[in-house]
Amino acid sequence: MSESPRVLPEEKIKRLYADAKAYLIGRWEPRPGYEAPIVMKTEGVYFWDARGKRYLDFISQLYNVHIGMGNRKVIEALKRQLDELPYASPSYFTLPKIELAKRLAKITPGDLCKTFFGNSGTEANETAIKLAQLYTGRRKVIGFWDAYHGSTYASVSIGGSSRNRNYPSLSIFEEFKHIPAPYCYRCPFGKEYPGCDLTCAQFLEYTIEKEGEKSVAAFMSEPIISWAGQVVPPKEFWPRVRRICDEKDVLLIFDEVMTGFARTGKMFACEHWNVVPDIETYAKGITSGYVPLGATIINKKMADYFDEKGFPHSYTYSGHPLACAAALATIDYYFEENLVERAAEMGDYLMEGLRGIQDRQGVVGDIRGKGLFIGVELVANRETKERIVPKDLTPEERRSPEKNPMVYLSDLCKEKGLAIGSSPGTGILRMMPPLIITKEQIDEGLKILEEALEEMEKKFDLPKKR
Ligand SMILES: Cc1ncc(COP(=O)(O)O)c(C=O)c1O
Repeated sequence: MSESPRVLPEEKIKRLYADAKAYLIGRWEPRPGYEAPIVMKTEGVYFWDARGKRYLDFISQLYNVHIGMGNRKVIEALKRQLDELPYASPSYFTLPKIELAKRLAKITPGDLCKTFFGNSGTEANETAIKLAQLYTGRRKVIGFWDAYHGSTYASVSIGGSSRNRNYPSLSIFEEFKHIPAPYCYRCPFGKEYPGCDLTCAQFLEYTIEKEGEKSVAAFMSEPIISWAGQVVPPKEFWPRVRRICDEKDVLLIFDEVMTGFARTGKMFACEHWNVVPDIETYAKGITSGYVPLGATIINKKMADYFDEKGFPHSYTYSGHPLACAAALATIDYYFEENLVERAAEMGDYLMEGLRGIQDRQGVVGDIRGKGLFIGVELVANRETKERIVPKDLTPEERRSPEKNPMVYLSDLCKEKGLAIGSSPGTGILRMMPPLIITKEQIDEGLKILEEALEEMEKKFDLPKKR
């Protein structure tokens, strides 16, 4: 470790929490009295709070710090760029912007070739939707229920997750439609793979037909659908969807904001299915969180169209030199350190450890994912798959560690020094540590997780007997 983390006096910490409460707009779902860590230092797979407490980070901050924290190569590249050219108007070219666009064309699949840069995942998705609508001359876009694509309006509308769209006063775009995700563990069509002939994919075809031929611009999804439950579609699913999109003349947009950049054991998750989308979006791992950056890349036929017509879309910080320099250094690091292969190898190791926990702990219903993009579905009863989060909780109870086992579990893990992702509504635990994590660090995290699971089972009298 380079330097000891800065520890603040308790009085100052109390004042900071009071100021945070007074001046910052609150959490997604309010939890009175809950104190998120005040992060003072990050390094590798760890971070420290203002009391000097260390946390092992199994979620890479917000699923984005793929190369780990405090990477000197990226920090030095940023310093160099800051000295050389901190900013230029997006209407000019800069060396890092041109170089990064060229690099993306090289490392992305198929004929994806021209990029528009933004600042975040949601901007990348807004850009993708606009590109699809302008290119096709159609407004409708189809996505999955329960997916998340960002918090701005088009992203919320296509996202389909009730957690951010079920507010009657929000302007949700009605021309964005939804279908169920290919969630085999709880098939929405009550079928069982492989005997189902992919009813879920057929339902996309049906929906496109019902919406009206030539009225749908695009179908949009993550290759592995995180919010819907780290859902890994069967191997035939994306090739079938690609065929449907081609036959129906609908564009395929992959949101690889979370799955992109080595996370799943391939540079891009769509490579697991050998399917190339027409548009792909990136953020998070593209700079590994060091500086905000989003990117939307399109294929050749779309690029030719926009070369001729232009694209009426712009951000002041599009292609920011610092962000592009950070992305170039981050991408170099993926290749230098073989992080694609490492994610696959460490992902297998983490999966194996989780399967061991599943053998011992009855609340572990399903484990799924690819590389270091892993979800664990906890259940009250493994045979019946009864959900671990009781259905009848009020919104306040859903946020309470005394009532909701998922909240209790994630609070307990944090108390024990492990940051994990836990969805308070669905019973999914997300595990996406930095790709540089070692086997020893995985063991350290799994030990804490199993202890916390045992305590949670005791408190809530789980797993339920039939
Ligand atoms: C799949 C996916 N798309 C888009 C976004 C939005 O990215 P951002 O928070 O950078 O806007 C996220 C954020 O978690 C995401 O997971």
